[in-house]
Order: sequence, then structure tokens, then C-alpha cells
Amino acid sequence: MNNPIHRRSFFKKSGALLSAFSIDSLFNQVHADEWNDISIQYKNWSAKELAKNEDYWAVIQQGYSASSSPVVILNNGGVSPSPIVVQQAVARFNELSNQGPSYYMWRILDQGRENLRDALANLAGSDAEEIAINRNATEALVTIIYGLDLKQGDEVIGSTQDYPNMMQAWKQRAQREGIVYKQLTFNFPIENDEEIVDAYRSAITPKTKIMHLTHVINWNGQIMPVKKIARMAHEYGLEVIIDGAHSYGLLDFKIPDLEGDYFGTSLHKYLSAPIGSGMLWVKKDKISKIWPLTCAGDPLSNDIRKFENLGTRSFPIEQGIGEALNFHNAIGTKRKEERIRYLKNYWAERTMQIPDIKIHTSFKSEYSCALAGVSLEGKTPGELSDVLMQQFKIHTTSISLENIQCVRVSPHVYTKISDLDRLVDALGKISKS
Ligand SMILES: Cc1ncc(COP(=O)(O)O)c(C=O)c1O
Repeated sequence: MNNPIHRRSFFKKSGALLSAFSIDSLFNQVHADEWNDISIQYKNWSAKELAKNEDYWAVIQQGYSASSSPVVILNNGGVSPSPIVVQQAVARFNELSNQGPSYYMWRILDQGRENLRDALANLAGSDAEEIAINRNATEALVTIIYGLDLKQGDEVIGSTQDYPNMMQAWKQRAQREGIVYKQLTFNFPIENDEEIVDAYRSAITPKTKIMHLTHVINWNGQIMPVKKIARMAHEYGLEVIIDGAHSYGLLDFKIPDLEGDYFGTSLHKYLSAPIGSGMLWVKKDKISKIWPLTCAGDPLSNDIRKFENLGTRSFPIEQGIGEALNFHNAIGTKRKEERIRYLKNYWAERTMQIPDIKIHTSFKSEYSCALAGVSLEGKTPGELSDVLMQQFKIHTTSISLENIQCVRVSPHVYTKISDLDRLVDALGKISKS
């Protein structure tokens, strides 16, 4: 598996295959010329101005097969479609792998992983040696939750609005090992950082060891002041885990700047990478103390690759991440963030005018971006999302969580204004009926 000389000569000899797994090949073949033109045309536009320019975004929309789906897809926060080039890359890598997986997948595609690590680190603003590639946010975060040394009585602070998989993982540790898992509950939307930071601070005791935070709350889209909470937690000597499932590839930030110790994300949400791809970031000096979830020759090594010992899995999916990064980087994170926030505000502001409608998400840019919740008096979230689907062919997701009851709507860069008009129109009709 590790024969670099053989690999190099293989690359040289096989031009056709080289283009099949070179991580920037397809994007350049398909989009580079056209996108280069628009990037020159709009180069002096601010991200906020460009967010409203339908000519620019029409070019991006054409890159997605999902933009012509007969059902309007407004649950991109759940899982997002990949652009066509990403789908094609995965299909090519799959075809190649099936010519002989133990050779083409394990020996050839495998060579793309270090380039990919560099590219992911580049977007994360981190050292590549802090990036592990895996299959989803659950795998990334549970690696940390189960990998930390904690003893009976040690306390972990999270919230009832964190993601269920992570809550269950902490509860399993509580049940099995006697750690204490404390959960705060917030009444979102909240537009006051100090209120949130103070809530976390007031839960800390001398036994607290870990703070588990969610960067963007999946239930209603609230963006949390994770950096402020992490800074405060560090003053008390705690370690901070950040669930960034909805932030990486959407919000314009660098992972180390959040000041957490661990960050896990899916890549198949706003990055639009192949479905079944995720990433773990671990601060360099913390790597050696985390036990890997699967196994490693030296489980306490400080090599981030110890978290990638996942057994046989799809390298075509993994290598397809490269094309998703090319697509994303050609737009730019800030432009993508502003466009998607604009789309959210577009439908939510119009919907607010409808009688008996409530929006469950802040309109302030620091507290929300892609995801927002809507409800209609007299209908449960399940009823409302069912009517949207059955009568108007609009797919959303319903949220029923203690104090958050709404239909969650989450557009993406491929969402058209006409799709959102259809949503607003549908909500108006449902409200009148
Ligand atoms: C906040 C949050 N964390 C983690 C996850 C889990 O992501 P995955 O299914 O990729 O493991 C989700 C999924 O929606 C989520 O919303």
C-alpha cells in the first residue's frame, strides 16, 4: 500500500486516470471558464450586494441537479445535495474502484487523502495535522465524547438543544461510568451573548471538566456565541467541544478562532460534499490524550490519522470531497454565507406579513443564517409540513422539541427565488384556509 515510487510512475503513465482522481480535475473541466468570467465580472461586488444578484446565482444554481427538482427542497440543514461535478467525481471514482478495489481504491485513490486534508485545513484555517476525515458529524463528535478520559463524578455541561446523538453519547457515559451530564435549556431566539455565556458559567462547579457546545442550533437556526463561551470555559480550566455540523462550509470563520479544543462537522450539509462525509478537528496538543473510537497501533499517539482507522469504507465518497471544496472555494465562504442568509430573510420577512404566522429565529445576522423556523397558529409543525408537501410539493422538516415547535426551512445556494415565492404563497394560502 505504501510504495511511493510505484505510485509516481503510475501517475505519469496514466494520464487518463490522473484526470479521474486529481482532486481539481472535474471542476476545472466543467466550470472553470464560465465561473472565471463571472468572478471577473463581479469581482468588486461586496458579498452583501452580490447576495441579491440573481444573474450571478443562476450560474451557481445550474451546477446543481437539485435546482430542477419538481419538489422544492427546503431541508438542506438535514442533508444537502452535491453539485453535479461532485456526483460525477464520485461516480468516476466508484467506477475506477470497481475495476479492482484493493488496487484502485486502496492504492490509488488512497493517495488523495493528504491533499484533501490540506484542502480541508485550508478552509478551516488550521494546521492539516489537526484534521481527520471521517463519515459524519456524529462519528467526529462521538470520537471525542467517548475518547476523553473522565472519571465518575466528573461533570459535563451541555444543553437540551444539542443534537440528540451527542446527548445520547453523553448519557451513555453517565449510565456506564457515572460521569454527571448537566443540560441547560434555552428559550430561543436569544439576541444577547451575555445571557447565553452567563447560563453556561452558572452551571460550572469545581467538578466540571467539559463544555459541549453547538455552533448553530439545528432546531431553530440560532447561532451561538461559541467563542465567548469557550473563552469563559477556559478561564475555569474546562475543555470545549464544538458541534459545527451546520457551520463549516456556511459561515465565514476559522475553526481555531472559535477557541474550542475539538470541533466536529458533517461535510454533506452546507459544504455539499458527498453524502457520508465528515471531519474532525482536534487542537494539536490535545490529539495524544483522545483514545480513538475504533483502534490504532498507538492509541495515544499525537498523529491525527489515528482517528481515520475506520476499516473499509467508500474512498470514492471521501475523494469526492475535493470537488465539493473546489465548487465551494470558487464561490467563497463569505459570498455563500451572505447569499444563504439573504434567502432566509427573503422568505421569512415575507412570511411574517401573513396572519397567525410566527418566526422562531432571530433576523440579526450574528444570530442566524440558513435555518429558520416558522409556525402557523392552529396547526402542529407536523400538520404544517405535511400540507406543504402534499398540497404544494415543498419539502421541509417539522420540529417538536419541548419549547421549540416549528417547521424548519433551510435553503441552499441552488435554491431559486421562485422556490421561496412558492413557499410564501403556500403559507399564505394555508393561513387563509
Ligand atoms: C447540530 C447537529 N449535530 C450533528 C448532526 C449529525 O450529523 P450527521 O448526521 O452528519 O452525523 C446534526 C444533523 O443534522 C446536527 O444538526
